[in-house]
Amino acid sequence: MQQTRRSIVGFVLGLGLALAPAAMAAGGGALQASSTSLSDRGSLQNGAKLFFNYCSGCHSLKLMRYSRIAEDLGLTEDQVMQNLNFTGAKFGEQIPRTMNPDDGKAWFGNAAPDLSLVARAKAGGPDWIYTYLKTFYLDPSRPIGWNNTTFPNASMPNPLWELQGIQTAVFKTGPEGEPVFDRFELHQPGSMSPAEFDVVARDIANFLRYAAEPAALQRHAVGVWVILFLSLFTFLAWLLKQEYWKDVH
Ligand code: HEC
Repeated sequence: MQQTRRSIVGFVLGLGLALAPAAMAAGGGALQASSTSLSDRGSLQNGAKLFFNYCSGCHSLKLMRYSRIAEDLGLTEDQVMQNLNFTGAKFGEQIPRTMNPDDGKAWFGNAAPDLSLVARAKAGGPDWIYTYLKTFYLDPSRPIGWNNTTFPNASMPNPLWELQGIQTAVFKTGPEGEPVFDRFELHQPGSMSPAEFDVVARDIANFLRYAAEPAALQRHAVGVWVILFLSLFTFLAWLLKQEYWKDVH
């Protein structure tokens, strides 16, 4: 009886855990898991490099400074100033966009927003950014020729098309005759395989996750020591217990 009750509780809990992500994803279109990790410094460095090469023309990171990135990601001042800084801003300054915001508005209809906090602002955080970067498709009906299933009618062209290639979207007809997204088809291959491109999207999402909360990086580092300390402490407590109980047995 006890056993049955326990397995029912286990089953219900398991079901809840299994369904929760599906329920969450249902709200904002299906998001793909980005598996970003703040302790993966290589991924953060690669994400920074990609961000400055492919995004900073239009997007600023006003809450970030070049010097902070150098310190947090283990880069030298020279590395940052030569490889990441294309604006002539100083090492200690915040990160502006390269493009004049009025041009952005004139060309794309919308000025590109600052991305300092975007990884926290979007439901799904880095997974939203990851999925967004993977779901651009050609759409001749849009003024800029691109559309996106994660952010429908976004006025941002696919900045990574040379790497990813160019996709088109195939739609089914829904119950009320409305178009329902079915799948992407590769229209023109890019310079990367899909697996390589996933790493690009993940590393950019990881970098923006870090940028939205740089302090989390330190917390992460402290967290490792706390876990190590607790493990050591548990071990000592166990030794002590063995010592006390020796005489009792
Ligand atoms: C050619 C200019 C341009 C480039 C390059 C560009 N973006 Fe954008 N981006 C935009 C514009 C314009 C918008 C606003 C879209 C809208 O609101 O319709 C936008 C919106 C976004 C948003 C959503 C922001 C929000 O608050 O809703 C994210 C995230 C984003 N861009 C990420 C990126 C990343 C990452 C890159 C580099 C891989 C990049 N962008 C490159 C122009 C650009």
